[in-house]
Amino acid sequence: MSSPAERRGSWVADHLAEMVSPAVRALAETPRFPLFPPDAVPFGGGLPDPDTLPHAGLAEASVRVLRDEYRMALQYGGIPGYSKLRDWVVKWTQRDEELPLTADNVALQSGSAHGLHNVCEAFLGPGDVALVEAPTYPGALRTIRSRMAEIVSIPTDGGGIVTPALEEAITEREAGGRRPKLLYTIPQFHNPAGTTMLRKRREELLEICRRHHVLIVEDDAYGDLRFGGDPVPSLLTLSRGDGVLRLGTFSKIIAAGLRAGWTIGPRDLIDTLNRTRFDNGGSPFVQRIIAAYIDSGALEPHVEVMCRVYGEKCAAMLAALDRHCAPYASWTRPDGGFFIWLTLREGIDVRDVARFAAQEKVAFFPGPMFFANGDGSCHLRLAFSFVALDLIEEGVRRLARALARAAGEP
Ligand SMILES: Cc1ncc(COP(=O)(O)O)c(C=O)c1O
Repeated sequence: MSSPAERRGSWVADHLAEMVSPAVRALAETPRFPLFPPDAVPFGGGLPDPDTLPHAGLAEASVRVLRDEYRMALQYGGIPGYSKLRDWVVKWTQRDEELPLTADNVALQSGSAHGLHNVCEAFLGPGDVALVEAPTYPGALRTIRSRMAEIVSIPTDGGGIVTPALEEAITEREAGGRRPKLLYTIPQFHNPAGTTMLRKRREELLEICRRHHVLIVEDDAYGDLRFGGDPVPSLLTLSRGDGVLRLGTFSKIIAAGLRAGWTIGPRDLIDTLNRTRFDNGGSPFVQRIIAAYIDSGALEPHVEVMCRVYGEKCAAMLAALDRHCAPYASWTRPDGGFFIWLTLREGIDVRDVARFAAQEKVAFFPGPMFFANGDGSCHLRLAFSFVALDLIEEGVRRLARALARAAGEP
């Protein structure tokens, strides 16, 4: 293979832009990640805490699987995935929610990102309308765009999606002859907003979507990482399993490198997802390692540790923000998850903040990444999940300096 430099001038390099699919061309609209220096304090990516990764427990589980189950673990495993792990997903979902579910209501995928991809490839095509929250997870925007679907953004506030605006957007599209097909929502410990949708809003949302036949995709990537507040029933539970697909993941409760997650919901929808996959299924090896790790009894105590760690980091970041950033912004106070969402004081633009933050060496994700239409210049997202606890104060001090400079202070 030639190097990129040698390929320059080759017919492939010269014609790549025309060769790629329209979906890849559509992705060019996705905002780019900002460039911060590599030694910046890392408040950017929503990566799990590296010190909590359960490497020893996973090493033991891997050895057990290779010793006792290698014939199945190292063979093709089928599309829906390892039935014992699907049984566990059902039990985990039913811990505090009574729902009539079996392993047939579950499909295992390569992370919830893949789950969402699977849902979108099954239900969205060119020109279809998908509803998302504003702001929302940029990975969802990319996935929906890759289906050449139209994205309609619904405003949110501290209590989640604004339901009258949801109904209005649906009715408006219906009047134009294009009924929205699905709504993608993150009701619990939202990425990026850190908020939790109020129960009343969840009930209203379900009622609106039921009436207008809009499929709800409930992304619950962070739901198990609670360090405050009271639980609110999930959309899947409140719907009694009708019209909702819930995405879950092992990325945040065990390790993102496993690339394993699930979709749980009505059986006919799960069957549709399975029929739409052409990837020969997820890794039976990884799925069995996860099952063996869970079997060892390690998961619950591990999740407790993570909730404590993330709770401490979040509290440290909130306290530092209170100390240093109050003149320049306000922010959310999450009960779980990885993120705090800042709203900048009028007159401060996040692009200026990013420029100065790069000089001050503190990284974050600017608001426009989380909006389909590039809005969000008065917002930024801070992740407290990855950064070391003892770096948070210094990082927020640097952010305060960047905010002051963006506000025109000397
Ligand atoms: C809201 C949300 N959904 C899905 C994902 C994808 O996670 P994974 O594919 O690792 O399960 C992420 C990752 O950060 C996320 O924040």
